[in-house]
Parts: sequence; structure tokens; C-alpha cells
Amino acid sequence: MRIVVPVGLAIGCLWVAGCDAPVDHFPPNRVHALVVSASRQVDAELAAEDSLSVIDAWFGTPEQPRWPKDLLRGDAAQHLVDPDRLVRAAGRVYSDQENHHFGLYNEHCVTCHGVAGGGNGPASLLQNPYPRDFRAGVFKWKSTARSSKPTREDLLRILQHGAPGTAMPSFQTVAGEDLEALIDYVIFLSVRGEVERRLVDIAVDELGYEERRPDADASLLGVVSEAPQAADTDAADLAVAELNEVAGSWAEAPEEVVPVPDETPFDAASIERGRELFHGPIANCVGCHGPDGDGQAATLDYDDWTKEYTTRLAITPDDDDAVRPYRQAGALRPRQIHPRRLTSGVFRGGGDSQTLYRRLLVGIAGTPMPGVIVAQEPSATGLTAEQIWDLVHYIVSLSEQP
Ligand code: HEC
Ligand code: HEC
Repeated sequence: MRIVVPVGLAIGCLWVAGCDAPVDHFPPNRVHALVVSASRQVDAELAAEDSLSVIDAWFGTPEQPRWPKDLLRGDAAQHLVDPDRLVRAAGRVYSDQENHHFGLYNEHCVTCHGVAGGGNGPASLLQNPYPRDFRAGVFKWKSTARSSKPTREDLLRILQHGAPGTAMPSFQTVAGEDLEALIDYVIFLSVRGEVERRLVDIAVDELGYEERRPDADASLLGVVSEAPQAADTDAADLAVAELNEVAGSWAEAPEEVVPVPDETPFDAASIERGRELFHGPIANCVGCHGPDGDGQAATLDYDDWTKEYTTRLAITPDDDDAVRPYRQAGALRPRQIHPRRLTSGVFRGGGDSQTLYRRLLVGIAGTPMPGVIVAQEPSATGLTAEQIWDLVHYIVSLSEQP
């Protein structure tokens, strides 16, 4: 394969300062290391440094990403990411003679989502909501259970449609095979980033990392000494188990798709029942979304990505001094999350009835929007499938009003 012209490079670099210079390393997740330091009251710097050596050995660099297939158990986890597609998505932007595009992530995504998928690329600062930080492994717009990973189809849907009402654009015009490569790369960045976080956690919580490195058996440095096979130490066993848990959760996503029962008739009676449920005590949608979904209920809350370095550490998000160290480590300025004004007719995660049913059933991961409690019979504490359909019909009717 011969490199012919660096098409697209020029356009990409209008956005990303210096993206023509190769990026040697994925930037470390310094915010998470600080969070671990604060929550465990130890200095997690060494733990973060050693974790990164493991992560770099397993996942490579932005120019030459790697997939640690040999360490993964189960076919699905091993083949989650296709190394050829990874190469297509990674690195510098150019096209070869057969007009295959390379560097897709740099061309289309990095300005917002950042080199390591931290959601803090140069164009992220002005956005609300912020671009997703893939490294937490939490996704909002999916068909699966709340704590599950999205399926490839879910990721394809968001790439094709974007998230309307946010900065996340639609990539409808990007060729299908390129979208597949981008999906591989999102999964790659997410697995990499989540494993990085977990290694820092176990280093401190289980391997005894403090200001000093623990002895050889517990040292993360030993994990990669015999790459690609991990060494036979306590640290290696734990680290490889974390890797498998994260990759396994992606491999299992298709089994976690939430089944949707047949839709009940969409009629005035159903809408009226939905209206009552919306304003009633069991669902209490009105508490966040306001009367008739006008978005006027005053709630002050933040999403989980922000809470990680604020409220969960007993830091008030608008306390600039307390937040400053996290900001200096790369965290974005805390921004409130607002319950949606439901009369706008804009659904970020898709507005078809099946999708809305799932949205109400499981809520929106990473945000304050809860799921509902399901009941087999109408009751004072949960909602039946029919009642959830009533709510869906009511929501749809709100956005159909002029
Ligand atoms: C102009 C900025 C921008 C660009 C460019 C962009 N995104 Fe996003 N992306 C966002 C924002 C903002 C969100 C958060 C939307 C939300 O929270 O509803 C997001 C969310 C996502 C999500 C999370 C969906 C979920 O279920 O939580 C994925 C996956 C994603 N983007 C992938 C990509 C990929 C792949 C590319 C490149 C092909 C890309 N994005 C390009 C801004 C951008
Ligand atoms: C604790 C507050 C809270 C409660 C209770 C709540 N929501 Fe939400 N809801 C939110 C927030 C916050 C968002 C915005 C999430 C985002 O876009 O990241 C949201 C978003 C939505 C969306 C938009 C989904 C999309 O694809 O854009 C719908 C629809 C919705 N809520 C319906 C409901 C219904 C119906 C109920 C009651 C069963 C309900 N909500 C209860 C906080 C809440």
C-alpha cells in the first residue's frame, strides 16, 4: 500500500492545532489519578505512572494502536476490535491509491473528543453538553440496560444521526466501512481508558501502591516485562482480570439489549393516562421536567462525568479554588445538566417509539434521569408496560403540539 496524497489533512488541521505532528503517546488520565489521590488520601502519582506503562504496552500509541488480543478470554472479546480497522481509524489523515481513508478519528472526531477520547478536545470548551469522555465507559444513547455498554448498532446509529440538539454531528456522508472503523476505534479508546482507570484503582486499593512502589510481585511494572503474554505475578493476574472484565462487558452488550413489548394503541385515552402518570407521584416526571414537560422545574444537578471530580469528593462544583487542581489536570469546567424541555420535539437519543420506551424504562446512564420501576400489575410503586407506553404516547403528543 503506497501513500499518495495527504488528502483531508489540511482541512483537519484547521481545527486541531498541530495535528500534522504525530502524537507519540495517548495523554494520561490525570484527573482520575487526582480523584484517586483525594478519595483514598494517598499520592496516586506512581500508581498512575506504572498503570500507564501497562496501558501503553497493551494498547500502543495514537499512531500505532494495538489490541491485546492474546490476553483476552472468549472469542467475542478477542474480536471486538479488528486490528486492520484500528489502523484505518488511527493516526495521520491521508488516503491511499485505492482511495481508502486513514486517520478517520483525527479527521472527524479528535477536535471534540480528544486524542485519548477524554471528551476534552480543543473544540469541547464551548459545548454543552460536553463531548463524551469515552474513558469512563458510560454511554447515554443505547438500546441496552443502563449499566451496559452500547452495541455496535447503537454506536452506528449515533454516528449516522448525531445527537440532535448537541454538538455531536451526523456522519451520514462518511462511507459505511469508515464508520465501522470509527466504531472499532471508539470501543478501543473506551476499553483502553476504562482499563487505565481501573489499574490506578487496583494499584492503590489492592497492590499497596503509595509513595513507594510495592515489591516485584505486586508491581505493575512486572506485568509487561514478558509482553505480549503477561507475567505470572499477583499484579499481572489482577490487571489481566480488569482488562477482561472491561472488554467482556463490550462483548456482552448484544445480550443486554432491552426487549420492548408490543406497542399499545396510540389514542387520546392513552395520552391522557400518560399525562396523569407524568404529573403523578409514581413516575414524577414533573419534578424534573416541569408541568407538561415545559422544562421549568428548578433542579440543580450535574452529570456523572462532572460529579466524579466535584460532588463525589465533597467539592461544590462552583467552588473555583477547589476545582482548580482538577481543571489544571484537564477536567472541563463543571456545567449543570438540565432536564429536557419535552415540548421541543428534539430527542437526542432518537425519537422513535421503541427508543423512547427504552429511554423511559432504563433512564439515561451518566445523568440524573432515572429509570422506572417495573410492575406486573398497576401499583403504587411501579409502572406496567402499558403505563410506560402511555407515557411514551404523552411525550410524543407534547412535541406534536404547535
Ligand atoms: C463538534 C463536536 C463533536 C464531534 C466533531 C464529534 N462529536 Fe461525538 N459527541 C459530541 C458531543 C457534544 C456528545 C455528547 C452528546 C450528549 O451527551 O447527548 C458526543 C457524544 C458522542 C458519543 C456518545 C454517545 C452516547 O451514547 O453516549 C459517541 C460514541 C461519539 N460522540 C462518537 C463520535 C465519533 C466517533 C466522532 C467522529 C466520527 C464524533 N463523535 C465527533 C461532540 C462531537
Ligand atoms: C431526576 C430528574 C429527572 C426525572 C425524575 C426524569 N427526568 Fe427525564 N431527563 C432528565 C435529564 C437531566 C435529562 C437530560 C439528559 C441528557 O440529555 O443528558 C432528561 C431527558 C429526558 C428525555 C429526552 C431523551 C432524549 O433522547 O433526548 C425524555 C424523553 C425524558 N427525560 C422523559 C422523562 C419522563 C417521561 C420521566 C418520568 C418517567 C422523566 N424523564 C423523569 C431528568 C429527569
